[in-house]
Amino acid sequence: MLSLVSPAKINLFLRILRKRPDGYHELASLFQAVSLCDQLRFAVADRDSFTCTDPSLPTDQSNLVIKALYLFRRKTGIETPFQIHLDKRIPAQAGLGGGSSNAATTLWAVNQLCGQPATDEELRIWGAEIGSDISFFLSTGTAYCTGRGEKIRSLPALPKMSLVIVKPSHNLSTPQVYGRLQAASLPPRDPEKALQEHLQGRPSFFNDLEGPALELCPEVGELKERLLAGGFSQVLMSGSGSSFFCLGEGRLPAIPGLKHYKCTFLNRAPGAWYC
Ligand code: C5P
Repeated sequence: MLSLVSPAKINLFLRILRKRPDGYHELASLFQAVSLCDQLRFAVADRDSFTCTDPSLPTDQSNLVIKALYLFRRKTGIETPFQIHLDKRIPAQAGLGGGSSNAATTLWAVNQLCGQPATDEELRIWGAEIGSDISFFLSTGTAYCTGRGEKIRSLPALPKMSLVIVKPSHNLSTPQVYGRLQAASLPPRDPEKALQEHLQGRPSFFNDLEGPALELCPEVGELKERLLAGGFSQVLMSGSGSSFFCLGEGRLPAIPGLKHYKCTFLNRAPGAWYC
C-alpha cells in the first residue's frame, strides 16, 4: 500500500508566446508546487477499483487517475490491478492543476509498486500525452515550463513563501479562457528575464491568462479588487483561474461560497515523493 499527497500548483508567472498550428499555445511559465494537497491511496488488488470522496467527479476512464493508470499499462505492458482511493481537497476548474497532479501521482505510485520499470524522465514524457501540466508534477516542485507546458527545466527550491489561495464559487474552463486570448496583443515581457529575477530574489508576478479570464467572468475581477483592497501585496490568478494566490497579509472579503487555503511552497527530493 502506498499513500501519497498530490499537490496543487501555482504559476508565479505565466507568459503566452503564441498560438500554435495544433491549437495549443506556446507558453513560458514558472510553476511551483504548493502544500494544498489531495491524498491518493494505492494498493495492489485482485481487480481494479477507483473511489473518490468528491461525488461530482467521474470515476470512469475520463478521470485523469484512470487515464494515467491505462497509460502506464500501455507503455510498460504491466497489467497489475490496483485499488485506488482519492481524497479530494484541491478545487476543480481553479487553475491549480489538481487533475494533472493526480495523474502524475498515479504514474509515480504505480511505477513504484511495480518495481520501478520506468525512470522519472520516462514518466514525464509519457504524462505529456494525457495533459500539458502533468510533466511538471514529476519535476521536484519548482520548474520553468515551456512548449505547451510539458517541457520542464527543473530548478532548485525557491525561498518558501506563505500564501493564501482563494477560490470563488465561479469556475473557469481552460479551453474557454485560452479561446478568448488575443496572443498577438499581449505585453512583450521576456520570460527568461523574469525567471532570472525570481532566481535572484527579485520576483515579479504576472499571468497573461488573467485578462481573458476576467473578461469571461467579471465577478472574479471584482474579487481580485477586493483582495487587493484587503491589503494583500500580490493577488494573481493561477493558470486559467478561477483561483488567485495572495501574498503578504490581508483580509478576506465575506463572500458566500468563497474558499481559502493557507499554504506554502512544496518541493521533493529526487527519488522521493512530495510529503
Ligand atoms: O493539455 P490540457 O488537456 O491540460 O489542455 C486543456 C486545454 O487547454 C487544451 O485543449 C487547449 O484548449 C488549452 N491549452 C492551450 N495551450 C496550452 C495548454 C492548454 O491552448 N499550452
